[in-house]
Amino acid sequence: MNPHERLGLASVEDDLVRLEALLGESVTFGDTFLDSVTSHLIRAGGKRLRPLLAVASATCGERTATREDLLGGVSLELMHLASLYHDDVMDEALVRRGTVSANARWSNTIAILTGDFLFSRASDLLADLGPEAVRIQARTFERLVQGQIRETTGPGDGVDPLDFYLQVLADKTGSLIATSARFGAMFAGAPESVVEIMIRYGERIGVAFQLSDDLLDITSDTVEFGKTPGTDLREGVITLPVLHARRSGDPADRRLLELLAGDLTDEAKHHEALVLLRSHPAIQAARTDLKQWAFDARQTLQPLPDIPARRALEALCDFVVARTR
Ligand code: IPE
Ligand code: IPE
Ligand code: MG
Ligand code: MG
Repeated sequence: MNPHERLGLASVEDDLVRLEALLGESVTFGDTFLDSVTSHLIRAGGKRLRPLLAVASATCGERTATREDLLGGVSLELMHLASLYHDDVMDEALVRRGTVSANARWSNTIAILTGDFLFSRASDLLADLGPEAVRIQARTFERLVQGQIRETTGPGDGVDPLDFYLQVLADKTGSLIATSARFGAMFAGAPESVVEIMIRYGERIGVAFQLSDDLLDITSDTVEFGKTPGTDLREGVITLPVLHARRSGDPADRRLLELLAGDLTDEAKHHEALVLLRSHPAIQAARTDLKQWAFDARQTLQPLPDIPARRALEALCDFVVARTR
């Protein structure tokens, strides 16, 4: 189930219909080839989590979204899309949103350039919403890219791998989700104290969301996930279940630890590691951590009055946990 079906904000459903139209318009120009690559992943689906958060935090579920609210949401989804086109090149991913990735369908070059194009479109839209929005966008993307770079380089000597991993998650995913919650409140003219709450909430739910994605990368199947499971293992991206498994002193885990320490591009080894990891207690341990992050995200909402938006944002905390079951 998609997050908007769980938020319980009836008005958001209508807002999202209008958002879809704007999103489609924002990347089509009448150039057949360009339009097909820019709209490829939009047409494929996706949860629209970032615009959903922006709209929910702007309207609080108590009014219809304005064009400005929606344009902020569109620009966030375009930034997210840009990062997905690039991420699939980095991760050599063949499937995205249940369809063939742009890099697999066309080429790495086309995927990278399309990502750049979508990012430019996002900036163009934001320029109409003011210089502060553009600056926040620039700083958000700076963090996102830094997270992606650090994930690639890995922790240096003497750096705690768990701290490093959590910082990567906060940067590559928490940053954009925090900006989504922030933009909504900001464009709606909410008091600074509320904007601050939205940022803190967005950072935490963003990390929780990426933790759930990292779990699903191990436990899900392609059909429900819309991506190829085991991509992190194949690419050597160390995620929380692996960090937990590595701590094991159980002699029964010798084979798993040996596999995790080596190259998992070999199909047979990759399959073996994935099967072992799926039934390992590390999965439960990672799920417990995820629950804690979701709980902390929920706690940040405490100072807000009991408005529909608050209940919706709380429901999102439940969603990130429930999707891993
Ligand atoms: C995928 O994000 C990348 C991550 C940050 C985990 P989503 O899971 O929000 O992807 P879509 O937009 O629904 O495809
Ligand atoms: C998601 O990275 C973060 C960004 C795209 C910036 P992942 O590589 O973990 O996401 P998926 O699993 O491919 O969606
Ligand atoms: Mg990826
Ligand atoms: Mg990646």
